[in-house]
Amino acid sequence: MVYKTSEQRYDTMVYNRCGKSGLKLPAISLGLWHNFGGVDTIENGRAILHKAFDSGITHFDLANNYGPPPGSAEEMFGKIFKQDLAPYRDEMIISTKAGYTMWDGPYGDWGSKKYMVASLDQSLKRMGLDYVDIYYSHRFDPETPLEETMEALHLIKQQGKALYVGISNYRPDQTNNALKILKQLGTHCLIHQAQYSMFERWVENGLLDVLDNEGVGLIAFSPLAQGLLTKRYLDGIPADSRAAKPQTFLDKEDVTAERLKQVRALNDIAGERGQSLAQMALAWLLKDTRVTSVLIGASSVAQLEDNLKTLNSPKFTGEELNRIETILAG
Ligand SMILES: NC(=O)c1ccc[n+]([C@@H]2O[C@H](COP(=O)([O-])OP(=O)(O)OC[C@H]3O[C@@H](n4cnc5c(N)ncnc54)[C@H](OP(=O)(O)O)[C@@H]3O)[C@@H](O)[C@H]2O)c1
Repeated sequence: MVYKTSEQRYDTMVYNRCGKSGLKLPAISLGLWHNFGGVDTIENGRAILHKAFDSGITHFDLANNYGPPPGSAEEMFGKIFKQDLAPYRDEMIISTKAGYTMWDGPYGDWGSKKYMVASLDQSLKRMGLDYVDIYYSHRFDPETPLEETMEALHLIKQQGKALYVGISNYRPDQTNNALKILKQLGTHCLIHQAQYSMFERWVENGLLDVLDNEGVGLIAFSPLAQGLLTKRYLDGIPADSRAAKPQTFLDKEDVTAERLKQVRALNDIAGERGQSLAQMALAWLLKDTRVTSVLIGASSVAQLEDNLKTLNSPKFTGEELNRIETILAG
């Protein structure tokens, strides 16, 4: 059957300007780190992508190594894109990255120009795209001169293989240096992709200020702490959950009694606000206007639907915010 998107797709989504740029991103973006690999079913991936695009999610985030196995998320995305989404290419913001281990030998990891350029060529092939909208350096490389990694991003932008460039997981000082080098080259850094959730708040110690001063957007990854900030683990660890699966970065041991105590207390506040915990956790991030978008993952259409309702969140009262801080400090 030929996919046709919803005519109402732009009716409810909010779009935020990404730093000082011409680009707006949806308040909620979709990441394909998990659930789109060779170990997953394409029909579920397709249903999630359709639901996302039909709901105004225009931004889809990938990386060379997403799967497992590495590369397979780009391949699955490429198949679905070709079959269903290609007519809508100009309505989509597709990003990918390089920085983690991808292939054997000295040129398949970190931040050399050799790796950054070759990896994007491979990603474009896997996804069947002529260009990506955003290309990231996935992590800071302590051994490669930062000038070289930034020059690679600049070159790729000049070649038209990426329209914008970004960095991910760079600390505030590394970010400052990267932005300076890019500026000297004549390339603006569009965006920083960093882990940010109620349970992981390192960006509040300097990074958000650097980005705000320099007109760079922030997209918050793992905003639900990989599922901890939802009702997923309230009654134990489901067999089909990320914590139960092999080859993930969430372990059963991460679902501790102390964490669950916090989650239950937060869940109570969410209930009083008339929303799910997932919605409250996302709304809590989006209340800061320096956060351009929250980059969620979803293993089902139902989860995505739950998360999309974040857009109807009531404003936080001072009292609610204080109660949340007390729980998070505990
Ligand atoms: N730049 C980087 O270094 C980096 C690193 C990590 C991630 N990222 C990006 O960020 C994206 C999102 O990361 P993430 O998947 O960790 O984000 P997340 O939104 O924190 O976690 C997503 C997981 O939470 C669960 N979930 C989501 N919504 C739910 C709901 N409403 N109710 C119950 N459970 C729900 C699902 O887990 P189950 O599978 O258990 O159902 C889902 O797979 C990635 O796809 C990637 O694009 C970037």
